[in-house]
Amino acid sequence: MIYITRKEHFCASHKLYVQEWSEEKNREIFGKCSNPNGHGHNYSIYVTVKGEVDSKTGFLINLKIISKLIQDYILEKIDHKDFNLDVEFMKGIIPTTENITREIWRKLEGPINELSCQLHCIKLQETEKNYAEYYGE
Ligand code: NI
Repeated sequence: MIYITRKEHFCASHKLYVQEWSEEKNREIFGKCSNPNGHGHNYSIYVTVKGEVDSKTGFLINLKIISKLIQDYILEKIDHKDFNLDVEFMKGIIPTTENITREIWRKLEGPINELSCQLHCIKLQETEKNYAEYYGE
């Protein structure tokens, strides 16, 4: 079994808040990320797939194919968008790093598992210091 990763970048904005809470309570829980008018991040996404190497090509999978799937299923829908307002698959979900990571897994799992490999991990880096990983469990 071998694991291979494709990294991509995107920019998006979000606001973390719970509607029923006061602005003070949201500020207390979410800090700067509760800023009423939102704010942006430069995200990096790492998509790791696993499987066996093809003895003819030496590839597990041509990463151009993975890149195209990330482009079509994810980046097309979120790059330069607002997670709270523009992204269908995040509707009603607080756009934390954790939740975005899990929803990206849900979008990519089907298309990737139809190929000659399996989705292993989605890692989403929101800032230099913070990232989340999801393994589908
Ligand atoms: Ni933020």
